[in-house]
Order: sequence, then C-alpha cells, then structure tokens
Amino acid sequence: MGRKRKGVDMKTPLEPYRVKVVEPIRLVDRQRREELIREAGFNVFNLRAEDIFIDLLTDSGTSAMSMHQWAGLMEGDESYAGCRNFYHLQEAVEEVMGFPFVLPTHQGRAAENVFFTTLLKEGDVVPNNIHFDTTRANVEYLKAVALDCVVDEAKDTQLEHPFKGNMDPETLKAAIRQYGSERIPVVLMTITNNSGGGQPVSLANIREISRICRENGIPFFFDAARFAENAYFIKMREKGCEHLSISEIVREMFSYADGCLMSAKKDALVNIGGFIALRDEALYHRLQNLLILREGFPTYGGLAGRDLEAIARGLREVLDLSYLQFRIEQTAYLGQLLDQAGIPVVKPFGGHAVYVDAKQFLPHIPQSQFPGQALTVALYREASVRVVEIGSLMFAARDPQTGEMHYPDLELVRFAIPRRVYTASQLEYVARAVIEIGEKREKLRGLRLVYEPPFLRHFTARLEEV
Ligand code: F0G
Repeated sequence: MGRKRKGVDMKTPLEPYRVKVVEPIRLVDRQRREELIREAGFNVFNLRAEDIFIDLLTDSGTSAMSMHQWAGLMEGDESYAGCRNFYHLQEAVEEVMGFPFVLPTHQGRAAENVFFTTLLKEGDVVPNNIHFDTTRANVEYLKAVALDCVVDEAKDTQLEHPFKGNMDPETLKAAIRQYGSERIPVVLMTITNNSGGGQPVSLANIREISRICRENGIPFFFDAARFAENAYFIKMREKGCEHLSISEIVREMFSYADGCLMSAKKDALVNIGGFIALRDEALYHRLQNLLILREGFPTYGGLAGRDLEAIARGLREVLDLSYLQFRIEQTAYLGQLLDQAGIPVVKPFGGHAVYVDAKQFLPHIPQSQFPGQALTVALYREASVRVVEIGSLMFAARDPQTGEMHYPDLELVRFAIPRRVYTASQLEYVARAVIEIGEKREKLRGLRLVYEPPFLRHFTARLEEV
C-alpha cells in the first residue's frame, strides 16, 4: 500500500522490518559545510562521517544487521584454530552457493589480493564484465591486464535493457584468441556489475560465458558481492525464472562457476568480512599458504569468530524475498524521484545504487574538470549528502606510451543505498537536494587536481575549484 505524495504518483517502498536501535544523525550548517569541504580538498572521502547527514557513499559495510545477526555475535568462538563459526560459515556457503571450500578474508579486496597473487603472473589477462576499482588495481599491481568485456548496451546510460551487466561473449572469445588461454588464468564476472551502474547479469549470459570458459579450460569465478540482488533481477526479468525461488536462482547461478570472490560487506549484510569460495581442492591449498601469510589462519582469515557468524547468518538472510523486493524497490524509488524531475539517471536503476549521468547533468564542465566530482561536492555543500564519483577522477589515466589522457565512457555519480538503514523520507530529502542543484547547475564549477597518489587516486586526491 503506497502513499500518494504531492505531485508524485508512485509507491513508497514499505520496509519489511521495524527499528530496534537508533543512531542519531545531525545536520551541520551550511557555512560549516563550506569550510569542511575546503579542508577536505574537495574530496568527500576526507570528510568525517559525523559531519554528514545522509551518507550514500557506499552500500559496503554500512548495512544494519538483524537481531539474529547481532545475537550471533555472542556466539563468537575466538579460538585461533577451528572456531565453530568457521564451520557455520562453511555450511552456509555450501548451502547457499554450493562451494565446498571457503577461505575467509577481512574484506573483498583481501580476497582479490590472495587470489590474484596466487594465480597471476606479469602479462596475464583477466577478463571481467567491468572490474571494480580495487579488483582492477589488484590485477594491475601484479602487472597483469584487467580487460573489461561488458556488452555495448552498458555504455548507453539511457537504454532500457534488462541485463546491462552481461559480458559480451564475442569480446571474450576475441580476447582468448588474441592472448591464448594460457595467459588467461581466470575469467571474472561481477554480479551485479557495480562499475557499470549496478546492472545485473542474466542466467543465460552466465551459462554462455561459463561454457566458453570451460571449452577453453579457463576457470570461471564470480565477483559475487551483490549476488542476491542479481538473483532478484533474474527472477523479475528473465523469462522462465519467475517461478523459481531466490535460493534456487542463486544455486543455479553458482552452479556454472568454479568459485567466487566475495565482499561480505554487501550481500552478506555485515560491516566487515569477505571470502574466497571454490570447488578445486588443489587451488584451495595453494591459496591457503598466502592466506596464512597475509590474513590469518584459514579458519578465521583476518576476522573475529563473531564476524564469521554474522556473515554465515547474513548469507541466508539476504535470500529473503520480502527483503530483496523492498531493497530493489527502495533504490528504484530514489531513481524514479530523480527521473521524474528530469535528472539524467542510468536506466534501468541499479540494485544497490542510483547513478546520475554527470556528463549530461553538467554539460558545461569538461571531463578533464571532473563534472562528477563537481556534483558530488555540490551535494555536500547544499544538503550534507555524501555520494561518490565513478568517472574521470576514479578512472581517467594517462597512456604510458603516448602520454595522452584517456577518459572513461561513463561519468557517473553514485548514490549507493545502505541496506536496511535509511527511510523513504530521507531518500526524498536526497532527491530534493539534487533537483535544487539541477535548477542552478550552470553555477557549478569544475575542479583540478592538486595532489594525486600513484593508484586508486580518488580515495586520497585533493582538488581545488577551477
Ligand atoms: N568487488 C565489488 C564488485 C565491489 O563493489 C567491491 C567493493 C569489492 C569487490 C571490494 O570489496 O570493499 O570488501 O574490499 N565495493 C565498495 C563500493 C567499496 O563502494 O562499491 P571490499
């Protein structure tokens, strides 16, 4: 039952839970925000979270855990070796995903580090639909090539297509022909495709990419951070899947893969954690060695026993249909509020986030002056809302041979929705802020870098206004 709002004819998403603990948030005044954003070098990663009213920087590690998960923390077994929670996690992974071997890590990028360091050598190539930034950085750090093979539809932000996260089989086959399967130790597929707008991958595409990998003897792994959201989209959008349960879809998705890298901070509904899960016992033993060196003994891998328990419980909880329905509808609600006001947003709306197309929103700011970051800064200034740029600040790079700057196709600003955290009225506040900025958009100015680190520059860069 939705409420009708002034001038807005859409359903307000209805939370399938009630609030048990509250965390106060405060709105610092406009003048103070102006000082704070300058002190932060126009980079919202440098702000204190306490100075932010609505924080849509990320959906990662920001979930509200359920009472069942909190209760599980008390059952944490903090033994160095063989804690009971590790076995609970193993059972949950096996039940939900079907993989018998699990290596816990403190978060997703640690799983990437252990996995790629074990598997890759210089000059190797890793195809993916689109690499997430830490995934790309981990591949490139080992002097391997991170190759994005997403379908062309993903590049048109206004095109309505149910599975814009799909990998293009022809691009993958061409890569295999070009480099040879010996130089491709793994094909990854990111579900949902975060850097391409949180778009899902279809079961048909998973099946086809898996087949190509098998035919060429290449292991096929998921970057599974948002696997349940991907499964919900399959249920809603893919013919023949509407009658399957989420857990059936999830099982089928994973049945085509040899394993996955998981940032549990997303769809395991926890604040910290990750893992590698897989079928190949020999590879499991190879990975274990580096895990012990970098993360910890294989039954805790950089986490406390209680964290493992929360992940085990979250992995099952996230399959709940009423939760997923609310989750995806809430994200779409923000998307619709913006879309109806004429703000250019990526279509269809992603699972965990709404993405504003900053190139279209701020056509007077060239990509060399970071239009996405300009909008991000404006949202903090105007409304104390934090979002994140996924565009030229994150991805533009100089060609090492020619010295020429290459800008990404997409210049997006991501509004990521933490799971089970914000209400509809808070998202309406965010939408109003964007709409108000839209009304005076020609006043927004571009930015230039004054400091940048050698990689993952968006986290610590400092900028000034042009
Ligand atoms: N893979 C994907 C698809 C991700 O979205 C992330 C993190 C990671 C891997 C790395 O996991 O943070 O646990 O080390 N994404 C967050 C985000 C940070 O905001 O999208 P992590």
